[in-house]
Amino acid sequence: MNIAVVGTGYVGLVTGVSLSEIGHTVTCIDLDRQKVDKMKQGFSPIYEPGLEELMTKNIAAGRLFFTSQHSEGFKEADAIYIAVGTPERFDGTADLTYIKAAANDIAEHITKQVVVVTKSTVPVGTNDVIQNILSAGTDVECEVVSNPEFLREGSAVHDTFHGDRIVVGSSSEKAAKLMDDIYAPFNIPIFHTNVKSAEMIKYASNAFLATKISFINEIANLCDSLGANVEDVAAGMGQDDRIGSKFLNAGIGYGGSCFPKDTSALVQIASNVDHEFNLLRAVIDVNAHQQALPVHKIKEHFGGSVRGKKIALLGLAFKPNTDDMREAASIVVSQELILSGAEVVGYDPIATENAKKVLPEIMEYADSPEEATEGADAVIILTEWDEIKQLDLGLFTEKMLEPVVFDGRNCFDLKDASKHNIVYYSVGRPSVGKVAEKV
Ligand code: UDX
Repeated sequence: MNIAVVGTGYVGLVTGVSLSEIGHTVTCIDLDRQKVDKMKQGFSPIYEPGLEELMTKNIAAGRLFFTSQHSEGFKEADAIYIAVGTPERFDGTADLTYIKAAANDIAEHITKQVVVVTKSTVPVGTNDVIQNILSAGTDVECEVVSNPEFLREGSAVHDTFHGDRIVVGSSSEKAAKLMDDIYAPFNIPIFHTNVKSAEMIKYASNAFLATKISFINEIANLCDSLGANVEDVAAGMGQDDRIGSKFLNAGIGYGGSCFPKDTSALVQIASNVDHEFNLLRAVIDVNAHQQALPVHKIKEHFGGSVRGKKIALLGLAFKPNTDDMREAASIVVSQELILSGAEVVGYDPIATENAKKVLPEIMEYADSPEEATEGADAVIILTEWDEIKQLDLGLFTEKMLEPVVFDGRNCFDLKDASKHNIVYYSVGRPSVGKVAEKV
């Protein structure tokens, strides 16, 4: 089949590349010409394991194309995917400017019957808006289908080929059948529903996962006060099939491009129909508190002030295997530490360039965990990169005078930590070392 994808951000590029890998002829459209030129040569503008290999392979096979011309991309298309961004506006609502522009471009340029597939996360009812723009702008027959995306950054290629389900919201048998045909080679179950329910499935899924994370973080904070161990609690809960063991890792909260944006948007969507989504508001509040937890813990350790202390942050990206800094806890942590008078040094295996764009200018960057920890008064682990999880805790005793570690991602075994002469705090687990022994 012939497919066009509008927008080559995270979702658009992974979708386009994956659809070419299963045999479709795909043209990805982006207005940024420089970006298009790079992608034509097989370079991905985002860091995503496995993506560039698939790009190179499918470009060479003559199935994957890039252009900045809508007319060129739409010429032969049986389906046009909209995968443009829906950034969060200051009031938490989703900004639909790019969605509307994409719909107008489609209306202006299509010459043959087409199914328009919305991949972008859009508030319930937005596909009706897209349909209206198309109906007003062109006489060519086109139907809008909602097809939300559930892939995770860092494992986007894997998730696309091994998803639990593909959700398709459509209003005709014909469009539903076309989507079945497009996705058949993936061999993933397809859940069919109407357009509005599909739109809601996306928000409800992300809100539910965010709720699970904030819930376990609240339990972790209680464990801290009561002397229980949240890892055991989560493992014991997770063995109940009704609860499930996934997304019960306590830590310093969720970040990234989806959960923060989509939870705020759903609160707004609800309030538009006079529904106060109090549960989700609490989830968001808990997350804000959790992102700042390392600062509170470290201040408490130093008797209330970190002024003049050198603090090393290990891991800056919002999660491992990505260079994405959006809504990363490192932003909150470094800002608060610097405002409190600490000297902050950051290290991340790949996100440093992006970090420099969003973190306070006065922060320093190191090229290795060893360099970051040299002479530090405290270390805060913010991202559970394999490289960080595999560090020998002896590094801290070697590089620091009186090592204090706050592990915001529970990377290390408590028994292992207790073998070293360090003070080791983590999330929802008993602390280890001199301070803990005194209590
Ligand atoms: C998420 C959804 O998983 C995906 O389905 C959706 O399409 C986009 O949003 P992503 O943001 O890439 O994907 O990352 P994910 O792996 O879900 O993690 C999100 C955040 O939650 C990260 O900051 C992560 O550290 C945090 N998290 C996740 C936890 O704190 N605990 C957990 O148990 C799981």
